[in-house]
Amino acid sequence: MRVAVLASGRGSNLLAILDAIARGELAAQVVGVFSDKAQAPALAHARNCGIEARHVSPRDFASRAEFDERLFSLVDAVQPDLIVCAGYMRLISDSAVAARTGRMINIHPSLLPDFKGLHTHQQALDAGARRHGASVHFVTAELDGGPVIAQARVPVEADDDAAQLAARVLQREHPLLVATLRELAAGRVALIDHRVHFNGRALAAPLQL
Ligand code: GAR
Repeated sequence: MRVAVLASGRGSNLLAILDAIARGELAAQVVGVFSDKAQAPALAHARNCGIEARHVSPRDFASRAEFDERLFSLVDAVQPDLIVCAGYMRLISDSAVAARTGRMINIHPSLLPDFKGLHTHQQALDAGARRHGASVHFVTAELDGGPVIAQARVPVEADDDAAQLAARVLQREHPLLVATLRELAAGRVALIDHRVHFNGRALAAPLQL
């Protein structure tokens, strides 16, 4: 499975993917890493591994659609089977998403549909949630609203602050993303009629990985 990764920052999820591939635990190849931020550590991680790393600056484009046209022309050029948004913090235009339905996934730090958008850990604390976690979902036009493939849960402890909770979730994000990619690489997961199918059957609830 040829994987293109979109990332805006730290790139710990990218590193988890690269580590799993290096250990022989994921039958995939990262064929390109793309970012809207020139200084994203994710780009440096890619370059260190000899992987094509490209930055596209939103400032160089008049609209989101034009930016996405350029970004995704670079992504398409590496011929990915799957596009993984791993800490990619920009909205993607509807047309760019629609052209890649079922071939683009995102990892989001909450148990979707709870706590979409930003500051998910603080949102969970403010809501008094007892459990929290992360989700991997197919990307659709609705922000953080696409069909959820898999989730990982963590408890919320009484004295947690957002940073402690974020760290606990992040620890689970990495194996969750790798395990989900393994299912996709094996051809066990697909998006059919807007529903996640696992081994040919529509999932009633997200996989717990
Ligand atoms: C991760 O926690 C990821 O779930 C989140 O950004 C972080 C990126 O970390 N993504 C979003 O909030 C997307 N809405 P990383 O750069 O170390 O992988």
